[in-house]
Amino acid sequence: MSKKDILVTGDRPTGSLHLGHYVGTLENRLKLQNDYECFFLIADLHMLTTHNERVSELRENIESLVIDWLSIGLDPNKSCFYLQSLVPEINELTLLLSMICSVPRVQRIPTLKEKTAQMGDNENYSVGLLSYPILMSADILIFNANKVPVGEDQLSHVELARELSRRFNSLYGETIVEPEPLVSEFSRLVGIDGKSKMSKSLNNCIYLSDNEDHVIKKVMKMFTDPNRTSPDVPGKIEGNPVFIYHDIFNKDTDELNDFKDRYRKGKIGDVEVKKSLAKNINSFLEPIREKRAQIFKNRGELFDIIIEGSKRARKIAKENIEKIKDSMKITFKEI
Ligand code: TRP
Repeated sequence: MSKKDILVTGDRPTGSLHLGHYVGTLENRLKLQNDYECFFLIADLHMLTTHNERVSELRENIESLVIDWLSIGLDPNKSCFYLQSLVPEINELTLLLSMICSVPRVQRIPTLKEKTAQMGDNENYSVGLLSYPILMSADILIFNANKVPVGEDQLSHVELARELSRRFNSLYGETIVEPEPLVSEFSRLVGIDGKSKMSKSLNNCIYLSDNEDHVIKKVMKMFTDPNRTSPDVPGKIEGNPVFIYHDIFNKDTDELNDFKDRYRKGKIGDVEVKKSLAKNINSFLEPIREKRAQIFKNRGELFDIIIEGSKRARKIAKENIEKIKDSMKITFKEI
């Protein structure tokens, strides 16, 4: 039997997951967990790179992330759920990789540039934030991952991981597998404001944990074609957030084609289109809500899942870091 390929991906525990996460990466993970040996990472140390003061939230955020994962069907019996800070070999590898990665190389990474610009004062960011992409590379390389499913915004980090694996291998001999990114079809879902990517900090999200009423309210105030001042004005489908969502969540193609046709001709109101969208999103979320309710009953077991997974992950990480250090001639084992 051929050995399964290894897949690593994960999330920072910074709050609830939303539809953007679902279509961007979670849906992909669901399909992939049957065909790969999956490692799903809870990147608590990555959260500290930008939120060093929010440590009191960590435990709750970690739990809520795992609840989100379980509620959509990620399965800890098939895949390994693990906590970054419980696998210290990741930090060890981060340090070793930082020796073969130049400062200008990480400074050129677009996400980091954006982040530091957002922070206003470029002098003010931590060394931890600068090494965010090196830590992420270590997350991936410590397991010799073959595949890394991510949203488009994370591609530049995976590119660094690829580069570091090649540099390591050429300096110290073939040791680390070069990973490949996997990007899903809808890797950038627009937010309900229709302006930017769905993102917690922009307050334009529909969360996996939203109830029926929340969804209806959010959909009803969604941004549509701005030039359409009344239902009899012909509207635009392309780039219209309500139709972008319909294309994803409405499985009734006949109904959707009819909506599009009438919308283009100015023969349907936004309200009718939105009501149907809210209904479709709610029926997508309903089984997730039911599962969530069950998980809440067994909330006490969440950390058992994390600890169990982290132990399994750590065992592999320990073997791999030894091989990596052997290649680097860091083999002073008698001490
Ligand atoms: N940086 C990723 C994000 O914010 C999360 C992450 C951390 C990750 N380590 C990873 C994703 C390793 C894939 C592989 O979405």
